Amino acid sequence: MEVIIQSTPEAAAELLARLVAHDLRVQPHLVLGLATGRTMESVYDRLARMHREQRLDFSLARTFNLDEYVGLPATDPHSYRHYMNEHLFEHVNVDLRNTHLPDGMAQDLDAECQAYEALMVKCGGIDLQLLGIGQTGHIGFNEPLSALRSRTRVKALSPITIAQNSPLFAEPAQMPRRAITMGVGTILEARRVILLATGASKADIVAKAVEGPITSMISATALQMHPRCTVIVDEAAAAKLQGVDYYRWIFTNEPEWEPYR
Ligand code: GLP
Repeated sequence: MEVIIQSTPEAAAELLARLVAHDLRVQPHLVLGLATGRTMESVYDRLARMHREQRLDFSLARTFNLDEYVGLPATDPHSYRHYMNEHLFEHVNVDLRNTHLPDGMAQDLDAECQAYEALMVKCGGIDLQLLGIGQTGHIGFNEPLSALRSRTRVKALSPITIAQNSPLFAEPAQMPRRAITMGVGTILEARRVILLATGASKADIVAKAVEGPITSMISATALQMHPRCTVIVDEAAAAKLQGVDYYRWIFTNEPEWEPYR
């Protein structure tokens, strides 16, 4: 794992957008794993702008989202399909047939989860997976006690996650209590993963995820086992990390990061 500290949330989002754009230019058929949440909105804004202003091309890319609420149709403004259309897909030239989210309305949810896994395999697996982090330390909707080898499945949402996300619903009580989510094991199979966390409210959980012991109670700690994981944080989200001097040295001195400094 490597930790990259940027001065502001904007700078952190900009760095992630530039990394995605770079991979997309090098590999136009990129299979991109996408995340939702407030943190990602400014990354998608930037990717949309790069498409408009620099002709960043999404026409051959395929995307898989981490999760979707159970019981919300794609037309529901609170569904993650709606979020993705609104924040990214409508603003770039991705072929909507190549954008995938689990179907939270499927009659047979277990079959839907298996089909989602099979489709990822058919597309050759995820090249680059973007991640946010919830207050419980979840990645996707892998709530506490998610097995470190879990696959795409239905997961009950924890009270902390319901408190975090229900204000986004017009009627907070109508937030679904379950979601389909890629498993921790599914996420660990992506060739590269990048987690973005910004703001003081994420400082505690970022420190636990990065420097704490690996535990199924905090699914983001499993990323410590990933061979190519980058965590991008702003100063506020980095505030509780112990090793900041070392992390800063890496970003300032490692040749790999030179184009992004
Ligand atoms: C939801 C998503 C997560 C995301 C989290 C972060 O819970 N299922 O994948 O990481 O939101 O949300 P925010 O960026 O709004 O803090």
